[in-house]
Amino acid sequence: MSPIEKAFASRTHEVEWSGIRIMFALADEISDVVNLGIGQPDFDTPGFIRDAAKQALDDGYTRYPPAKGFADLRQAIAEKLKKKNGIDTDPDSEIFVSVGAMQGIFNTCLHLLDTGDEVVVIDPGYDYYSQIKLFGGVPVPVPVYETNQFKVDPEDIRKAVSPKTKFMIINTPSNPTGAVFDADSLREIAAIAQKDNILVLSDEPYEHIVFDGKEHVSIGAMEGMKDLTISAYTLSKSYAMTGWRVGYVAAPKPLIDEMEKLMEHMVSGVTAVSQRAALAAIRCDQQCVKDMVQAYEKRRRIVHEGLNAIEGISCILPESTFYAFPNITKTGLSSWDLAKKLVREQQVAVVPGSIFGKMGEGYLRVSFAADETQLHKGIERIRKGVEAL
Ligand SMILES: Cc1ncc(COP(=O)(O)O)c(C=O)c1O
Repeated sequence: MSPIEKAFASRTHEVEWSGIRIMFALADEISDVVNLGIGQPDFDTPGFIRDAAKQALDDGYTRYPPAKGFADLRQAIAEKLKKKNGIDTDPDSEIFVSVGAMQGIFNTCLHLLDTGDEVVVIDPGYDYYSQIKLFGGVPVPVPVYETNQFKVDPEDIRKAVSPKTKFMIINTPSNPTGAVFDADSLREIAAIAQKDNILVLSDEPYEHIVFDGKEHVSIGAMEGMKDLTISAYTLSKSYAMTGWRVGYVAAPKPLIDEMEKLMEHMVSGVTAVSQRAALAAIRCDQQCVKDMVQAYEKRRRIVHEGLNAIEGISCILPESTFYAFPNITKTGLSSWDLAKKLVREQQVAVVPGSIFGKMGEGYLRVSFAADETQLHKGIERIRKGVEAL
């Protein structure tokens, strides 16, 4: 072991390489790969948002920004939160502009978790495990089932809660399953939270990408939840802005104050130009978002029909996001084995479901953030790979 490795603090070992990264490293070794693994819109950031950033450079936004974000951006976010999510916030004290939703999640874990604190997470669900464990937390997975369209049964959350529970993470619309939790379930979850003053981290990156007239509901807007909810948002997915790294958190003032204080010591704020681009995005008429969602809706049909036409695969229709989560148990292979086989032998990259928790075994995550040509090509490769088994 090298001196630097010997010097590592023990918490360093709690962080694991993201499974998605491991999969992409495999894909990188292979030429002409169709990538249906990545959770990133293939669209360019809309032109008017890029123009706002160019203008911002000429207007002098080249200096340190305020640690919790520009005041006019926080004001625009507060208006959006009121209109779209039904959440009332004070822009001066209850909003923090973050580096994507990711920093909101990371900082929440950092500020709230002590060793042994439990965090309830959904399984299969987005991989929050490293962030939780880094700060001594213990993830407590709550299973969701395909037979229930991967929607959580609040009763299962109730069972998972213990005196050690510090917070629960609710991610609706859900990555990787595309499930949308309805208002009634969220109300029941809110009641569980209120009973024992358990906090809720509501991670909502896909709030706009919802199909068939389904409604996205924010738990933070529900009665009695304001003091208990940390809501994390991002511009990454809705506006095709993954590389700009802007998101925001709405939370009670004491937590926002801590985030601001730490931000000064950490990175001194989100890149000024990115914040100005975010302001243009949030203030626009949202037509660009609607156009992209319409394109995802069409792609969803292609993927859903294409996957279900493959012998050995079945896939429920995702209600949201740009992910399908097909069941591959009939192939007899584990999700990692099938994903590796598909990338090596058929040049198509997908994500093994087990990356999203134990309950994700037996599934793949197939992203339809790629264009239609790539989707047709990728599905055909998956078909060939599965038929060859
Ligand atoms: C559920 C979920 N939360 C958080 C993130 C992080 O997004 P951001 O780019 O805003 O950091 C992602 C990105 O894929 C996600 O799917």
